Amino acid sequence: MKNIVVIGSGGFSKQVIEMIEGLKEEYNLLGIIDDEKRLIGKEILGYKIIGDTNYLRQYARNEKIYGVIAIADPKIKEKISNSLDDVIWTNLIHPSAIISKHIKMGKGNIVCANVVINPESVLGDHCHINISTTLGHDVTMLDYVTIMPGARISGNVLVKSNSMIGTGVSVLQNLIIEEKVILGAGSVVIKNTEKNSTYIGVPAKKNK
Ligand SMILES: CC(C)(COP(=O)(O)OP(=O)(O)OC[C@H]1O[C@@H](n2cnc3c(N)ncnc32)[C@H](O)[C@@H]1OP(=O)(O)O)[C@@H](O)C(=O)NCCC(=O)NCCS
Repeated sequence: MKNIVVIGSGGFSKQVIEMIEGLKEEYNLLGIIDDEKRLIGKEILGYKIIGDTNYLRQYARNEKIYGVIAIADPKIKEKISNSLDDVIWTNLIHPSAIISKHIKMGKGNIVCANVVINPESVLGDHCHINISTTLGHDVTMLDYVTIMPGARISGNVLVKSNSMIGTGVSVLQNLIIEEKVILGAGSVVIKNTEKNSTYIGVPAKKNK
């Protein structure tokens, strides 16, 4: 049995807590970590917010502890993961996800219910693939990417690090989503994107 903590106590953490409950043969959820001091001691779905990331850093020096970061913002995921050397980042995968055996996955990824990942796709570290999203064949996602529910990422797409893909987005095949791009909910991406930019609409256009 692996002792685990969930970092972050927002809405997505509820989904993650329930995933861990469903994997109770493998994980024992010790509690939630949040840097918001006023939340410490409160409960989410019956699990206590036991401390902040400083508390977890100390804890992980002495005890073996697994963790996942349930915070959507890529730059926060990056900052937290880089500040906690001793936490063992685990891949949390909902049992209903259909994942090809021909994929590669780093660590700290969260793959939610009803996700489909097709052959020869690659996930970096700390990516979130929210419910009912599909990744086509040969999709590569670099680190800290967050995909909201119901996105359709077509074959041969490269999503570079720290990008956020809104709910219901479609990305056509062979495209590159550059670093730190935000794709607005419902957009349909038909061209490569520029880094550090937001795109919205059908077809998706850069938001001025
Ligand atoms: C694209 C997005 C990031 C823009 O957020 P923002 O920078 O705060 O932008 P604003 O809300 O100020 O909107 C700016 C303009 O874009 C429009 N807009 C915002 N999101 C849009 C979208 N998804 N599609 C089309 N137009 C959109 C707004 O109507 C507004 O238009 P206006 O200037 O003509 O009034 C955000 O709206 C979005 O879609 N986020 C993804 C949300 C999501 O998927 N959530 C799932 C949670 S699980």
